[in-house]
Amino acid sequence: MAGFFISHVSKIYEGATPTSTLVDIELTIEDGEFLSILGPSGCGKSTLLEILAGLQRPTSGEIFFGNEKLDGPGIERGVVFQDPSLYPWRTVLRNVELGLELRGMSRSDRREAAQRCLDLVGLHGFEQKYPHQLSGGMRQRAGLARALANRPEVLLMDEPFGAVDHLTRLQLQDDLLHIWEAEKKTVVFVTHDVSEAVYLGDRVVLLSPRPGRIKQIFKVPQPRPRKRDDLELLRIQNEIYAAIVEAKSAESLEFTI
Ligand SMILES: Nc1ncnc2c1ncn2[C@@H]1O[C@H](COP(=O)(O)OP(=O)(O)OP(=O)(O)O)[C@@H](O)[C@H]1O
Ligand SMILES: [Mg+2]
Repeated sequence: MAGFFISHVSKIYEGATPTSTLVDIELTIEDGEFLSILGPSGCGKSTLLEILAGLQRPTSGEIFFGNEKLDGPGIERGVVFQDPSLYPWRTVLRNVELGLELRGMSRSDRREAAQRCLDLVGLHGFEQKYPHQLSGGMRQRAGLARALANRPEVLLMDEPFGAVDHLTRLQLQDDLLHIWEAEKKTVVFVTHDVSEAVYLGDRVVLLSPRPGRIKQIFKVPQPRPRKRDDLELLRIQNEIYAAIVEAKSAESLEFTI
């Protein structure tokens, strides 16, 4: 069971000026769901994703992954960051197989696994290239292949397509959906792009400006494949824009009081 149960999670970054970042997050993520997390810069999206990855601990609250209380990172949860940070001195293939190598998998098994993932993300033929020989979108694909190589049950993705051009981004979204459907993984996808969140997600969790609270959860019941100009998707997008404007004005109200 690759779902999460997030119970009353809050996060305060300690320091000279403690920063309250997440407040009382209560959320269930279903096994196999594609969940988008949307919110303005600084609202705690990355923090929430890092908590799910086990890279950060919440200040209070608990998280369950399946029936287990979450305590640290695990290979069943693969993370894809905005910057794929591939090792420049390793070929694409050897970057993708790195995790398997560290786990002691035999050379032939890890080659086969890495090749399968490179095929899956559309990088067949680029195995022997070095990261600097790839375009930004291709590097992102390599980062995704590296996460998939460990056969995670969950993909935790933090604005993975934020740095690529618009057309490449649309293509990467569709490719990710195909992989999600073929591999039946749970995906938690952080973005600040409303149309991306709605096009991809089964649900969209909207966080309020910092400190992040769950402002509203939107269901996107449209079957896939979806059309980007689907009127129902556009209606949900508009509903989300309205909620964002409302959250902003509530924030400025709080500020003036
Ligand atoms: N390691 C850290 N130590 C101290 N404060 C941090 C740390 N990481 C994040 N923060 C603070 O927590 C808040 C939320 O940061 P976070 O990176 O989670 O936001 P975000 O929603 O991902 O923003 P963006 O859309 O810009 O990526 C910010 O105010 C940030 O300064
Ligand atoms: Mg972030």
